[in-house]
Amino acid sequence: MIVLGIETSCDETAAAVVAGGVPGPGRILSNVVASQTAEHAPFGGVVPEIAARAHASLVDGVTRQALSDAGVGLDRLSGIAVTAGPGLIGGVVVGLLFAKGLALASGLPLLPVNHLAAHALTVRLTDGVAFPYLLLLISGGHCQLIIVSGPSEYERLGTTIDDAAGEAFDKTAKLLGLGYPGGPRVETAARSGDPFRFSLPRPLLDSPGLDFSFSGLKTAVRRAAELAAPLSDPGVRDLAAAFQLAVTDILVNRTRRAMAAVRGRLGPTPAFVVAGGVAANQALRTALVEAASLEGFSFLAPPPSLCTDNGAMVAWAGLELFAAGQGLGADEQLKVSPRARWPLDMRFAGVPGAKA
Ligand code: KG4
Ligand code: ZN
Repeated sequence: MIVLGIETSCDETAAAVVAGGVPGPGRILSNVVASQTAEHAPFGGVVPEIAARAHASLVDGVTRQALSDAGVGLDRLSGIAVTAGPGLIGGVVVGLLFAKGLALASGLPLLPVNHLAAHALTVRLTDGVAFPYLLLLISGGHCQLIIVSGPSEYERLGTTIDDAAGEAFDKTAKLLGLGYPGGPRVETAARSGDPFRFSLPRPLLDSPGLDFSFSGLKTAVRRAAELAAPLSDPGVRDLAAAFQLAVTDILVNRTRRAMAAVRGRLGPTPAFVVAGGVAANQALRTALVEAASLEGFSFLAPPPSLCTDNGAMVAWAGLELFAAGQGLGADEQLKVSPRARWPLDMRFAGVPGAKA
């Protein structure tokens, strides 16, 4: 199978061509990512209207580039995968309508992909890991622990009750004057900071259940910054380091609880996977490797460039759907609507649900 994947749900316009078969690993024939960082940077975060306009002007060229880098024409494709949600609706509309047009014109099946599923399945593209596995999905909009049992089978064990992990990084970066994109800037600042100079809370740590909370941590960072004002450059680095350590402690604590709770359901060699943009964070990966080893789980994570948004993960998720016979023909393609919200455990035909 060879699938084209198109991703426009946030601030990267991306397209890729991926080849292979399930369970993977697959082969990435091309992977083009046009980042909109420069457009959003003056505003300190993603501006949805600017993102939608940028996607509209970039999606055609990025897709052509992906096909040409792969040396593959539309006639060689098995299907066209596209992120149909969740995400910023303007961007999702751009990508979905573009993909629908391409699918209808070429007669190819359309593969509407849930963006979270694309993150969740990326380790099958890179490592061919077998179902089921325990997943920590940490991105700009989500923070969830999930059992992944199939390309459309997800059981959510816990989720954030307020901010997402990436959102906490982005807000902290803004507060510390580190700018956008927040996650990588906090990570860089934290590298040379003292994580123990400031003492920050770990909300919900050791509480029952598997949910997360980050908003109290964000408030504590603001208060610490105010108390220490004006913050020197070393002060910013120390506070960034303290924040990153607090987030790491929270994620490790919840993940170890989940591992203990589900170990028996994941077979003799249970696998743990971390994915989503925040999984690019090296300090966090190191801590999760240790947690997995202590709990008797193998550790898998896509390389950092495939943790943040990209077209290859969408192409691969589409390939999984295609292999499962879930490609949509012309009649059904026209009925697919873009979704701002789309919980992972809901099939595409379902009614819109609450924030996933
Ligand atoms: O998966 P992703 O690219 O887009 C969404 O689906 O949201 O994740 C983006 C999030 C942003 O909040 C960004 O700040 C965070 O991932 N991120 C990081 C790092 N790289 C990206 N957070 C911490 N450390 C990083 N190195
Ligand atoms: Zn993402």
